[in-house]
Amino acid sequence: MSARRTVSFRIVLGLLLLSCGVRVNSEPTQDKQALLAFISQVPHANRLQWNNSVSACSWVGVVCDQNQSYVYSVRLPGVGLVGPIPSKTLGRLSQLRVLSLRSNRLTGPVPSDFSNLTLLRNLYLQGNELSGEFPPGLTRLERLNRLDLSNNNFTGSIPFAVNNLTQLTGLFLENNGFSGSLPNISPPNLVKFNVSHNKLNGSIPRSLYKFPESAFTGNVDLCGGPLRSCNPFFPGPAPSPMTPPLVPVHKKSKKLSTAAIIAIVVGSVLALCLLLLILLLCHRKRRRQHSPKLPKPPVAAAARSVAAEAGTSSSKDDITGASTEAERNKLVFFDGGVYSFDLEDLLRASAEVLGKGSVGTSYKAVLEEGTTVVVKRLKDVVVTKKDFDMQMEVLGKIKHDNVVPLRAFYFSQDEKLLVYDYMTAGSLSALLHGSRGSGRTPLDWDNRMRIALSAARGLAHLHVSGKVVHGNIKSSNILLRPEHDATISDFGLNPLFGTSTPPNRVAGYRAPEVVETRKVTFKSDVYSFGVLLLELLTGKAPNQASLGEEGIDLPRWVQSVVREEWTAEVFDVELMRYHNIEEEMVQLLQIAMACVSTVPDQRPGMQEVVRMIEDMNRDDGLRQSSDDPSKGSDGHTPPQGSRTPPSVTPTP
Ligand SMILES: *[C@@H]1O[C@H](CO)[C@@H](O)[C@H](O)[C@H]1NC(C)=O
Ligand SMILES: *[C@@H]1O[C@H](CO)[C@@H](O)[C@H](O)[C@H]1NC(C)=O
Ligand SMILES: *[C@@H]1O[C@H](CO)[C@@H](O)[C@H](O)[C@H]1NC(C)=O
Ligand SMILES: *[C@@H]1O[C@H](CO)[C@@H](O)[C@H](O)[C@H]1NC(C)=O
Ligand SMILES: *[C@@H]1O[C@H](CO)[C@@H](O)[C@H](O)[C@H]1NC(C)=O
Ligand SMILES: *[C@@H]1O[C@H](CO)[C@@H](O)[C@H](O)[C@H]1NC(C)=O
Ligand SMILES: *[C@@H]1O[C@H](CO)[C@@H](O)[C@H](O)[C@H]1NC(C)=O
Repeated sequence: MSARRTVSFRIVLGLLLLSCGVRVNSEPTQDKQALLAFISQVPHANRLQWNNSVSACSWVGVVCDQNQSYVYSVRLPGVGLVGPIPSKTLGRLSQLRVLSLRSNRLTGPVPSDFSNLTLLRNLYLQGNELSGEFPPGLTRLERLNRLDLSNNNFTGSIPFAVNNLTQLTGLFLENNGFSGSLPNISPPNLVKFNVSHNKLNGSIPRSLYKFPESAFTGNVDLCGGPLRSCNPFFPGPAPSPMTPPLVPVHKKSKKLSTAAIIAIVVGSVLALCLLLLILLLCHRKRRRQHSPKLPKPPVAAAARSVAAEAGTSSSKDDITGASTEAERNKLVFFDGGVYSFDLEDLLRASAEVLGKGSVGTSYKAVLEEGTTVVVKRLKDVVVTKKDFDMQMEVLGKIKHDNVVPLRAFYFSQDEKLLVYDYMTAGSLSALLHGSRGSGRTPLDWDNRMRIALSAARGLAHLHVSGKVVHGNIKSSNILLRPEHDATISDFGLNPLFGTSTPPNRVAGYRAPEVVETRKVTFKSDVYSFGVLLLELLTGKAPNQASLGEEGIDLPRWVQSVVREEWTAEVFDVELMRYHNIEEEMVQLLQIAMACVSTVPDQRPGMQEVVRMIEDMNRDDGLRQSSDDPSKGSDGHTPPQGSRTPPSVTPTP
């Protein structure tokens, strides 16, 4: 199917060019020569017949970009290539992103001109007889994502310069002859790592403790971390805090008998029901106690208290009048606003509860003239009017497409109100978790990407231009415009509540250090944003009981699933229907995982996050054409299983 799409695309393109009467050389001439030079020097199976008289873009295993101006990927797994890789051949494919030569019988060193493949993202050379040192040129390929040199005859030490490869997520060096000690390798996003069955000795660096024992076994004399302790007099080091202890539990439970599993499931369902029942009863009781106090249109309560404070009836003149008391209690609008109503109008508006958040209740208020705004009624504000005004001044200045504008505020003894624009398309939380499975249209991948990027831009603007910590990033604070551009709301309110109240009261998004310090920072925002990305990817609410384990948050859950096996299980089932998004999902997952590092300093800044997501999008145009048949042939990408229909395997 994918092949057909590519072909028809080419036909359309061809017709288009013909009809314009333009003769375009749709052939990557230089790349073709490089490929021909390669294939003429390397003996190979007869199956691989690259016909000189047709475009290289139609050759088996070769994929070009949309314009057919360069070769994007070369995948030649198991095509009987024999002997050394000649230099000045593949090293000339300057735009190459993916190179797979796995499972052949290639020998000798990796040519030094591979260092010119600076855009290379995936390099699969496993299952050959390549030898020599760790190819030094590879440490310059800073975009490398996956590097697989396993099952070859490489020797010598593993260079420290592997740290140059900051984008690396998978490094596979098992079954070679690497010797010496392991360097302190710590690419931030490394999730797959294997150096088993080499000749390594010495202690395992702490940065690699998180990988399981099987990643290190079969070496001469490695110790520490998951292996035996290096010092016989001291117990082995405690497991890294990043490693969730539930992994072994998870494993064990897999082996439980069906009866035991059923018993556990029934037990937990019963317990959950009981808990819900208790909660419900408590809630009802409290509501019954409170409800008489709540006025019908809640904003009217504000009206009354305002009126009481001004000591007058709630007539318009009294409130907007010149008396100093009233002056102080005015609704304050920010410059550049589009609204012209006063407090009185607002109080007369019909109001509907949108949600009760951690800092107060939000109402949708429809004014008599038809304007709709959101009024947020803050509770537990501790700061003085002066401090409140100062913070409002800061927040009122923030103007960005991806930030919900704060239009006005009101401060009195009893009432603190904020007025925001109303976003018609609702919150991300509602879109992602609302009425799941009941025939609604799921949020598709492109829109999720769009939301991720636009929300990141909004938050980066807050941080960089506004110098404001959001403090409460969560999916219910991501509001959407009709075309799925995200805007972030409820920013910068933490300073109003002092230190007595825990910031970011929704547990699932709270950075670990915030629990202790109770201080939100730019980096704790980044953490919360990472959780938000995980929510987009997994479709799971961060505080959801459905993560399967008790007391486990979303980042831990994802880490445990990902570490066990690089599996598709983490992704939202609703995304399974979309094709060719796997690479992007994995990339976004990597970004999310970087954001949720336990150590704040290891998290990227928001601008960096924006840049990373933008970088992903840049390949959008290539998604169609990179839709190559041998996807998944690298042997490490998640099983395609339920996601895409079995794709056509490479014809070689
Ligand atoms: C190469 O392609 C041309 C044009 O399609 C065809 O005429 C020729 O027979 C092909 N050569 C081989 C060796 O397949
Ligand atoms: C592909 O062609 C389009 C228009 O023909 C051009 O705008 C674009 O820059 C080209 N892309 C590359 C990568 O050459
Ligand atoms: C890399 O490419 C440049 C120019 O394209 C060339 O001068 C250089 O020799 C190449 N490097 C190697 C190691 O071949
Ligand atoms: C690391 O990357 C930089 C920048 O590309 C490069 O100049 C340097 O040579 C690399 N270091 C090693 C040891 O390859
Ligand atoms: C690779 O290493 C193995 C074991 O060290 C050796 O038997 C084999 O001959 C080597 N192959 C090549 C091509 O060097
Ligand atoms: C590791 O082995 C090398 C020889 O291959 C030796 O020189 C070095 O001392 C060993 N290191 C440790 C820590 O045992
Ligand atoms: C590492 O590679 C070995 C040998 O291929 C394999 O048995 C082991 O499961 C791998 N471990 C990890 C963590 O990938």
